[in-house]
Amino acid sequence: MKFIAGNWKMNGTRTALKEMVDALQNVDTENKVILCVPYTMLGLNSGKVSLGAQDVSAHEKGAYTGEISAAMIAETGAKYVIVGHSERRQYHEETNDIVRQKAELALSAGLTPIICVGETMEEKQAGKTMAVIESGVRESIPSDVNQDIIVAYEPRWAIGAGLTPTEAEIAEAHKLIADTLNNMGLYGTPVLYGASVKATNAAEIMSIPNVDGVLVGGASLKPDDFIPIITSVK
Ligand code: PGA
Repeated sequence: MKFIAGNWKMNGTRTALKEMVDALQNVDTENKVILCVPYTMLGLNSGKVSLGAQDVSAHEKGAYTGEISAAMIAETGAKYVIVGHSERRQYHEETNDIVRQKAELALSAGLTPIICVGETMEEKQAGKTMAVIESGVRESIPSDVNQDIIVAYEPRWAIGAGLTPTEAEIAEAHKLIADTLNNMGLYGTPVLYGASVKATNAAEIMSIPNVDGVLVGGASLKPDDFIPIITSVK
C-alpha cells in the first residue's frame, strides 16, 4: 500500500472536487488516497477519499483574523493537514520552528500532519541538501510524538518545474529521512516524495527504497492525470 496524496494548492472548485470524488469511486486500489484541498472544500462528501487541509494556524484560537485552527479543520471531518509546504516556507517565511508548532496543534486536534522538508536550488548548489533535510526533519517534527505523522520530501527547486532529482538522489534523501526518523524513535513513519510527480514517473519513483508514496501537485487536479498515478502501483 502506498500513500497517494494530492495537493490542490489554490486551485479547483467544489464542483471540481465532486467530479474528482465521483471519478475516484470506481478506482480499484489498495493505496491510500488523500486530497488536500482549499479550506472551502473541506466538509464536502469525499467518498472513500480522505480530505486534508494545506496549512493550519500556529495558534490555537483567538484574535488571528483570517486564520483557521487545527480544531476547525478537524471539525470538518478532514483527517490530514500539510504543514511546512515549500510555498508556505517561501511566501510566508515559515521556519522549522513554526512548522513544528503547527504540527503540534494538528496532532492535538487529532489530525495527521504531512510535514514537508526539502532544499532550495541555492542550498542544493551549495552542497547543503543532506544537512537541510536532516535539520528539517529534526526541527519540524514535535518531540514525543505518539500519533501518526507523515513526512514528505519535496526538493523545492523541482516543485512545479517539471524537474525531478535522479533516482539516486531521491534514494539518498529518503534513506537519510528514514534513518533520522528511526533515530528519533519514529519507526515506520511513511515518507512521501513530492515534486513534479506524474503518471509517467510515479511507478518508478515509488519503487525506490524508503519511498512510501507521493505528494502530487499539478497532476492531482484532473481525474485523467491523477487516476493513472493511483493505479500505477499496487
Ligand atoms: P508539483 O507540486 O507536483 O506540481 O510539482 C508538488 C507539491 O507542491 O506538493
